[in-house]
Amino acid sequence: MAVKIPKKIGHRGAAGHAPENTLASIRKAANLGARWVEFDVMLSHDGIPILMHDSTLNRTTNGKGPISAQSLNDLRTLDAGSWFDESFADEPIPTLAETLLLAEALGLGCNVEIKPAPETSEETAKAVIEVVNSSQIPFSIIMSSFSETVIGTLHKYLFDTPRGLLVNKVPEDWHSKLQKWDCFSLHCNHKHLSQEQANTIKSADYHLLCYTVNDPERAALLFNWGVDSIFSDYPDRV
Ligand code: G3P
Ligand code: MG
Repeated sequence: MAVKIPKKIGHRGAAGHAPENTLASIRKAANLGARWVEFDVMLSHDGIPILMHDSTLNRTTNGKGPISAQSLNDLRTLDAGSWFDESFADEPIPTLAETLLLAEALGLGCNVEIKPAPETSEETAKAVIEVVNSSQIPFSIIMSSFSETVIGTLHKYLFDTPRGLLVNKVPEDWHSKLQKWDCFSLHCNHKHLSQEQANTIKSADYHLLCYTVNDPERAALLFNWGVDSIFSDYPDRV
């Protein structure tokens, strides 16, 4: 379960420079020198893992309503680029499978963040596991989720792939949770992390990753505290 992660990971690709969670954003991250990218994965109505952060289409596409109500074919007709800039018009919503292929071609490691719609945690995790297994891509990958059901499912069915528990604030019982699911890492919101917490987590020998850090001074401070990696919308800046 060993994986080597770089100090900066492109967030949603390179979300500061290109429409988040698109292949254009992944390519941009690689062009800017990122060696790893993070992206968010949800299920279409017909159970296909696709890249999307929000549970509805409203903010990042020209569609409306919940992602989980639309089939992959319907989602494929949408424009996921124009909201960011006209130069990205008609950029499609990518599937997880094609994103992994692109990442492999670009030599990028991936943090696949699984974002299940309510009541679909296990189903979403299993669909992602199927894609990851069938892609047979021998490259670096970490799976993460805010959903403990997802982490538990990954622990059960994809044991050899490193898992990261995602949290906003570091919870009191972080250590027992990481032990329970044999996690590789804890991913937290840097805004709520203290130096003392960072020390304790690092002393327990876990990898510590922080999102979303776009300020180089803040990044330097976090690295000084022992944080291993940061997620940034501007991987060129930090
Ligand atoms: O995976 C780190 C970070 O992306 C978690 O928060 O809301 O940006 O997916 P969010
Ligand atoms: Mg994310």
